Amino acid sequence: MTQDEAKWAVARRAVEFVEEGMAVGLGTGTTATKFIHALGERVKEGLKIRCVASSDASRDLGLSLGMDVVSLEELPELDVYIDGADEVCAGAGAGLALIKGGGGALLREKIVASAAKKFIVVVDSTKVVPVLGRFPLPVEVVKMALPLVEKKLGDLGLHPKLRHHADGSLYLTDENNYILDCACGQIADPEVTAAEIRGIVGVVEHGLFLGMASVALVAGDEGVTEMLP
Ligand code: A5P
Repeated sequence: MTQDEAKWAVARRAVEFVEEGMAVGLGTGTTATKFIHALGERVKEGLKIRCVASSDASRDLGLSLGMDVVSLEELPELDVYIDGADEVCAGAGAGLALIKGGGGALLREKIVASAAKKFIVVVDSTKVVPVLGRFPLPVEVVKMALPLVEKKLGDLGLHPKLRHHADGSLYLTDENNYILDCACGQIADPEVTAAEIRGIVGVVEHGLFLGMASVALVAGDEGVTEMLP
């Protein structure tokens, strides 16, 4: 199975968790995009749901597929949130720990995830790691605070690097903030790292999602399997 096929497999499986009348959070990224397309097919067939999106891109996609996508203000309690991840770790004591934000939507993703009763992570098996940290940890930062936060993350040994687009322009999130990608290497204690980053004034959010995921659906050659916290 190619990575793309695995993403489709897990996206289609995730749709089975969505039932008539549910309030559904839409994730962001290539896997979540496949999920939105698959869910859009069910909506076309008559499934009645309401959705809140974790990014402008996912909102626009949902609307283009005829889905009822509203603001979190209109729909503050969600039955389920379905999204991808950059890394998933089920290490001892960690529950299901994630790194998210490779697509830059970590802040809204964390907000929408926290509004949901159930957070289903959809990944291909390449995302499952024994220890978090192979993927650079994104940290969203208020523009004005960039020099301060960059220095403090550096002092913590997290090796921050300001995110740019491929054309060299600065990357801005949907909330108009910068992202520092931290090539920190193995994160031995994610709770400690999360607390250290959160303690820096000017940090809006970080990409460690700890104790939030209810289940991870993982697609690989053996099909789609479930990882529980
Ligand atoms: C978006 O900001 C991210 O959190 C994505 O959900 C995550 O990076 C996974 O994306 P892919 O499914 O594209 O790998």
